[in-house]
Amino acid sequence: MGRVGLIMAVCLAKHGYEVTGIDPNTTLLEKLSHAQAPFYEPNLAEYLNAAMQSEKFVSTVDYAKNSQSDLTYIAVGTPSRADRSIDLGYVEEASRMIGRSLRDARQNQLVVMKSTVLPGTARNVVKPILENESGKTAGKGFSLCSNPEFLREGNAIHDAEFPDRIVIGSDDPSALDRLENVYRSFHGKSVPRIIKTSFENAELTKYANNAFLATKVSFINSIASIAERTAHADVKVIAESIGLDERIGPKFLNAGLGWGGSCFPKDLAALVSFSQSIGNDPELIRAVIATNRRQGEKAAELAKEALGELRGRQIAILGLSFKPETDDLRDAVSISIINKLLENGADLRVWDPRAMREAKHIFGDQIKYSANALNCIDQADCCILVTEWPEFKTIKPETFAKRMREPIVIDGRRIYDSREFQNAGIQFRAIGLGLWYEREQTGR
Ligand code: UDX
Repeated sequence: MGRVGLIMAVCLAKHGYEVTGIDPNTTLLEKLSHAQAPFYEPNLAEYLNAAMQSEKFVSTVDYAKNSQSDLTYIAVGTPSRADRSIDLGYVEEASRMIGRSLRDARQNQLVVMKSTVLPGTARNVVKPILENESGKTAGKGFSLCSNPEFLREGNAIHDAEFPDRIVIGSDDPSALDRLENVYRSFHGKSVPRIIKTSFENAELTKYANNAFLATKVSFINSIASIAERTAHADVKVIAESIGLDERIGPKFLNAGLGWGGSCFPKDLAALVSFSQSIGNDPELIRAVIATNRRQGEKAAELAKEALGELRGRQIAILGLSFKPETDDLRDAVSISIINKLLENGADLRVWDPRAMREAKHIFGDQIKYSANALNCIDQADCCILVTEWPEFKTIKPETFAKRMREPIVIDGRRIYDSREFQNAGIQFRAIGLGLWYEREQTGR
């Protein structure tokens, strides 16, 4: 019942399916039983409420309930191990428990792997466990498909209801047809293209998708670094221009402090580790990761450049979540930025509309927590915008100038107009903006 499973559950319930959510976390189940969303995602609270009201959704710790189901999604986490390879512990455990529940199932249940797993996992890990535990044979006693999700946090419900495409993998043609029919009836007229293929193609598609998107972002961040050292250059204009080339497209070309979150960092690391394990060095993907690491380091560097010394200086951080519209701090660039600034002796005050609770959990009393964005920038020597929450866009340059002790603003996501900020007397630095370089060179 995490960020994939719960979203699927409430969407299926909304479409009239009877859904049982199974999770071993009793605190989480307690919340669900009171129709409380365990994490923030736009519209989730409403969908969960509707699902509970309609009595189409129940949650339980009891895997035995699964024996009644026609279709089961495995949507457990696949975290990284210390060496960044994929940890299949939860997948194996879920497969064991589902397999056991299948012993009593009279119907041919369709088991669907939604969790992100490396090529070969459905065939070589999930299938044998299901067969051993159930005493049944795949294709006869039960069916198995691989069906990666492409949900974005912050847009997860929309993405579940209106996916760009659906990819289904299996070695069993009737399983592919069964899952295709489920989606045809779920999506009705808005059903997207459905690709039916092997387990391995479906599994690798998920990694290729995330790796490509991360590559696009790291690519534009590489151009941003060039633009920063080029007088009169601005990566935003360059991104807009190349985005108009239909072969490139405008999405995922926002330069900034880099990508984070629960998927890109973990999935790219797992892809590198997998690729190396089969004798192939994925040079490009390694460069994409290295570029991203470098990108996050820029925040502290720009602050140091503007302030000279960081020790004892008051720095305001606006935005902590790895992207707007989520409370998720997993692999958020804000964490490494805060750690770097603390290492340099800065005093930090932070604000995020949704991620404060999690931040307190991570940083405790090492930093100060503001009550709102304005309170965060009050008397600050420097402000770093880390996440582009819409509420930050509305803060006027004059407000920064008036409230801050030294008006230095570092726009890590390119949401502000540099000229407006400079006209308000603010020392303005931004990712991919060559202006500061121009000034240094010309002394203007
Ligand atoms: C991603 C995939 O988009 C989704 O299909 C998959 O199922 C899970 O992983 P998500 O992690 O929710 O989704 O976020 P996404 O919107 O893809 O952004 C990932 C990171 O890239 C964020 O940190 C975001 O700030 C950054 N990003 C994105 C940029 O820096 N610039 C961009 O132009 C786009």
